[in-house]
Amino acid sequence: MADCLCCQKPLEGEGRYHPRCLNKLFGTTRLPTIAFGVADMPSLVAEAKGRISISGVQMKASVRLDRETSRLESVSTGGTHILKPEPERFPQIPHNENLCMNMAEELGLRVPPHGLFAMADGKLCYVVKRFDRADDGRKIPAETMFQILGSTNKYEGSLEQVGKAIRAHAANVGLDAIDFFERVLLCFVTGNGDMHLKNWALLGQGTEIGLAPVYDFVSSRLYIKNEEDSALAINAKKNGLTRSDFEALANRLEIDPKAAANVFAKLRRTQDKLREMTANSELRSDLRRDLADIIASRFARLYA
Ligand SMILES: Nc1ncnc2c1ncn2[C@@H]1O[C@H](COP(=O)(O)OP(=O)(O)OP(=O)(O)O)[C@@H](O)[C@H]1O
Ligand SMILES: [Mg+2]
Repeated sequence: MADCLCCQKPLEGEGRYHPRCLNKLFGTTRLPTIAFGVADMPSLVAEAKGRISISGVQMKASVRLDRETSRLESVSTGGTHILKPEPERFPQIPHNENLCMNMAEELGLRVPPHGLFAMADGKLCYVVKRFDRADDGRKIPAETMFQILGSTNKYEGSLEQVGKAIRAHAANVGLDAIDFFERVLLCFVTGNGDMHLKNWALLGQGTEIGLAPVYDFVSSRLYIKNEEDSALAINAKKNGLTRSDFEALANRLEIDPKAAANVFAKLRRTQDKLREMTANSELRSDLRRDLADIIASRFARLYA
């Protein structure tokens, strides 16, 4: 039997989604339709330009479910979800992102509801619920590290700087430091070398400020074979990272060495599961094989 196109876990009945997964994402178990295809995207994006708060390099649309028609509509304001189609340059990036987000969930990280959905042209796109909107539509303030650090180049800087900003602003410093460290390790093992300053953010206000839920987790190495290990420096290095570099980062994050060792041990316990998730994913077979190789070699580097 097929797996759910949201959580990737086996389905019990008909269709391609668990009703509970659809409900978590859209607040209804009815499967929405998308009346536009990838080719319609540039004009959709252009229409919303200037007002869109979800900038980024990849094509994307801010969408909202029209409950009467059960359609996901592109909107310039009041969007509740982000829709990312498959660009020509990066085949199956929606499948890749959905898988990496499920891996993050498997590790126990905070992941917004997400899934893969067919567009009008039959191509699957990735849809994720916005974490900067409350259920009543109110905005929850979110700021990326690019803004917080007053940066002018999203690839300039270090994860120590990001960690320092988390420690300076987060209400629950200890928990967020460990959460951040876990994410950094997961990105390393999945070959995500594109976690620049705009892919880390803080969410909330006052005493509620904390690391935003996980977003933009993809294995970029699947497409960029000579990519550096990390978009931002770790222990003054972007490449050739070893376990001791991550331990040095944990130290700078003021994570107790015992707690850091627990994070390494926990990640190691998920290795088989990550391999299985890759093998059973919606990715086509060559990408599945490449990703399995990346994950195996990264685990070997961390746990030699
Ligand atoms: N689920 C979400 N809820 C709210 N805001 C989000 C969410 N996901 C992403 N964002 C915001 O939108 C921006 C763009 O999203 P994302 O990073 O997924 O797109 P991208 O174009 O793939 O990015 P990149 O420029 O790194 O390639 C992010 O920097 C973040 O500020
Ligand atoms: Mg991004």
